[in-house]
Formats: sequence, C-alpha cells, structure tokens
Amino acid sequence: MKIDIGILEADRKQTAGHLERLLADTYALYLKTQFYHWNVYGPLFNTLHTMFEQQYIELAGAVDEIAERIRSLGEYAPGTFGVFRELSAVEESVDVPRAEEMIRRLVRAHETVARTAREAIEAPAPSADEATRDLLTRRLQVHEKTAWMLRSIVAEEPAVARARPVDLAAHRRTGTDPLG
Ligand SMILES: [Fe+2]
Repeated sequence: MKIDIGILEADRKQTAGHLERLLADTYALYLKTQFYHWNVYGPLFNTLHTMFEQQYIELAGAVDEIAERIRSLGEYAPGTFGVFRELSAVEESVDVPRAEEMIRRLVRAHETVARTAREAIEAPAPSADEATRDLLTRRLQVHEKTAWMLRSIVAEEPAVARARPVDLAAHRRTGTDPLG
C-alpha cells in the first residue's frame, strides 16, 4: 500500500539514510558497551559493570526506536553486522583495555554518535520532519550527557577546590549538621 504521510519520497529516503547511520552507530556503541560490561576489571569493577549495563540497556531501546522510525518512513531497516560496520563511524573494539581506557573509548564513541545525530538534525529533510527531529534531539541529549558523565570519571582534580569551606567550629557551637 502506498505511503502518504505528507513527506516527499525523496525526503523520506534522505531522512532514512541519516537514521541508518545513526542506527549503525548506536548498534556499534551498544555492542562496545556490552563488551566492556562483560570484560571490565579492576577496583571500579562493580560500579562500571553496573553502569555499562544500564547504558547498553538504554542503547538497545534506542536501536529499536531508530529502526522503527525508518520503517515508519517507508524504508527497510538494516540489521546485519556487515552493513552496520560499513555505515558506522564508531570504532570497533577488539582488545580488552584497562577500565580507564574503556571509559575514554566510550566517551569518544558517544561523541561520535552525538555528531552523527547533530549532522542529521542539521540536514534539510530530517530537520523538516518533526517526529524524526524529536527522536534525533533526544538521542543527541543522551549521548552528550553520557559522554559528560563518563568524562567526569576520568577527569583530573581541579587545581583549586571551589566548594565553599564548611565552618566546623560554628556548626559545633550551634549543634547543626555541617552537611545539612
Ligand atoms: Fe550482565
């Protein structure tokens, strides 16, 4: 049955093309995150094993949503490793690095997916399609935020502490909780 959702065929195809690249990037990042969930080791094992799990579960949901948006636009969604590898800008992980290097690689991968999403948002056809634009904006937010959170784990200490010092003597005098 012919599709008639108010978007020209050429525009639907152009938008689907952008979404295919985002799908491939997201799938590659999903696999990388799960790979690190399985193989992370060191003193941060528990934290990172759990954090990577939360991240790959979120990515699995995104993969599904992006693929189904492609279908809603009347195109077929790719779903093989060969095509994903061809389309994805995310570098594949083959080795098992130390935890800190895993985090750095994940930051780079999230930044890569953010750039793919931003490129799509700025392209004419996807930017004119509200539903796709909404999906792309949400994905951009997730990848930028996750990159920031991962970056914060490996950030250097600031040279000068900026937090307001707590006057312990004053709290002792008044009997209040210094952390309250
Ligand atoms: Fe697991």
